[in-house]
Amino acid sequence: MGNLIDDIELLTGSETEACETVKVTENKNTGKARKLYIESYGCQMNFSDSEIVASILQKDGFDTTSEIAEADLIFLNTCSIREKAEQTIRHRLTHINGFKKKKPYLMVGILGCMAERLKTKLLEEEKIVDLVAGPDAYRDLPKLIATVDDGDKAVNTFLSREETYADISPVRLNSNGVTAFISIMRGCDNMCSFCVVPFTRGRERSRDPKSILNEANDLFKKGYREVTLLGQNVDSYKWSEVENNKAKLEKSNVSEVVPFAQLLEMVAAIHPDLRIRFSTSHPKDITDEVIYTMSRHENICKYIHLPVQSGNTRILELMNRGYSREWYINRVNKIREVLGNDCGLSSDMITGFCSETEEEHQETLTLMELAQYDYSYMFSYSERPGTLAEKKLKDDVSLDVKKRRLDEIIKKQNQLSLKRNQADIGKTERVLIEGTSKRSTEHLQGRTSSNKVVIFQKQNKAKGEYVNVIIETCTGGTLIGRICN
Ligand code: SAH
Ligand code: SF4
Ligand code: F3S
Repeated sequence: MGNLIDDIELLTGSETEACETVKVTENKNTGKARKLYIESYGCQMNFSDSEIVASILQKDGFDTTSEIAEADLIFLNTCSIREKAEQTIRHRLTHINGFKKKKPYLMVGILGCMAERLKTKLLEEEKIVDLVAGPDAYRDLPKLIATVDDGDKAVNTFLSREETYADISPVRLNSNGVTAFISIMRGCDNMCSFCVVPFTRGRERSRDPKSILNEANDLFKKGYREVTLLGQNVDSYKWSEVENNKAKLEKSNVSEVVPFAQLLEMVAAIHPDLRIRFSTSHPKDITDEVIYTMSRHENICKYIHLPVQSGNTRILELMNRGYSREWYINRVNKIREVLGNDCGLSSDMITGFCSETEEEHQETLTLMELAQYDYSYMFSYSERPGTLAEKKLKDDVSLDVKKRRLDEIIKKQNQLSLKRNQADIGKTERVLIEGTSKRSTEHLQGRTSSNKVVIFQKQNKAKGEYVNVIIETCTGGTLIGRICN
C-alpha cells in the first residue's frame, strides 16, 4: 500500500501568481468590514475546516455572516466523495449566479475537496467562480482574495505534508455552544480503491497533542461539554516528538510517540464533565488498547463508528480495505466483550461495488445482523476519476441492481435501528443536553453516551447540563423519555 500512495501527484506547487496587492477588507458601498458567508458540504472534517477558514479571515479583518444575502464573499467548502456531491455544488453555483447578477462585486470561492480535485479546471467549467483553494491552502486565502480584488482569478491547490493548522483557534460556526469538533489529523494514506480522499486531502499527518489539549481545554472553559476528535482514520494517529521537532532530534535518539489511545487518555483527563467522541475508526487499525482506554474512562463515549463497507472478503480485498469479514467480526466481538452490548456501533456501506455478486451482497446483510448496528450511512457505488478502482476495475453492476441492493440494506438497517432503540426502553441514560428539541420548545434534546438522540420534557434544565433520563418509548431514530433523579 505504501508505494501506491507515491503515485499521487502531491506537491504540485502553488498555482497562485505571486503579486503585490493592496488589501481591501471593506465593502466599498458600506465602508464596513466585508462579510464572508461559508457553506460546508461533505464530512465533519470539512465543517471543521470551515471554522479554520473563518478564523483566518476574521484575523484578516473580515466578518462572518450566516445570511447569504448579506455576503460580500460566498465560499462553498465542497465534497467530491460521490458524483452526486459534486452535482449538488454545480446546482448551488447556478443559484448563486442569481446573487452575483444583483451584486457584481460578490466574490465566489470553491474550497475543499472539489477544489483540490478539479483545480484550474473549475475556473474553466464554472465561470462564476473567482477563487479555488484546496484543503491545505487556507492560510493563503487573504492573498488569494487580494488577487481577485485586483481583477484576476486565484488558485492554490498545493497539498502539504506538514500543514495541520495546529496554531489556529477555529471560529465556531453554527455552534450550539455545547459540542465541538477538533481535527487531530489530516489526509489519508490508505488508498481504499473506491475513494477519492487520498487525492483530495493528501498525505496523512498528525497534529501536535499539545495544541489538541489546548483547544479542548479552551472549549471546556468556554462551557462546551463534548468534543469529537476527527480524522479519516483516527487509529493511525501518531505524534512523534522527535520526528516533528528537529532540535530535539539532534539531542536524542529516543522517540516519544503518542498513539491514539494515549491521546484519548490525555483528552479524557481534562475534566470528568468533558465528554470525548472520535471518528472515524478503521477496522484494520483499531487496537485493543483503544477499546480498553474507552472502558477505563466514563467520559469517553461508548460509541464507535466502524465502517465495514462490505461484508464479503473478496469485495473487501478489491476495495483494498486491509481486513477480511472474519477480522471485522473479531473486532466487533472484542468491542462487545470489553464495552458490552450497549456500546453504540455504526457503519458505512457501499452496494454494487465492481463485480459484487448477489451472494456477496447477502454477506453484507448477514454481517449487519451480526454487528447489530445502531445506524449506518449507506451508499451505492459511484466511480470516482483517478481512483484505483476507476483505473483497474470495471464498474459493472447496473444502476438498478445497485439501487435495489441499497434499498435492501436500508430496510435491514431500519429494522436493526428500531430493535436497538426498543432495547433501551426502561433504561436510565445519562444525557448531555444540546438544546431545544426541533419539534417542540417544551422539550429538550441531547445524546446518550452511545450517541442516540433523546427527547424529554424541559422542566428547569438547560443546554450544557447532564441529566438522567428514563427511556419510555422510541422511534427508529429517536429515544423519548423523562428526566429522573
Ligand atoms: N475514512 C472513512 C470514510 C470517509 S468517506 C473510512 O475509511 O471509513 C465516507 C464514506 O463514503 C465511506 O465510508 C464510504 O462508505 C463512502 N464512499 C467513499 N467513496 C465512495 C464511492 N466512490 N462511492 C460510494 N460511496 C463512497
Ligand atoms: Fe477513503 Fe479509505 Fe482513507 Fe477512509 S480510509 S478516507 S475510505 S481511503
Ligand atoms: Fe468529502 Fe472530502 Fe470529506 S471528499 S467526505 S469532504 S474528505
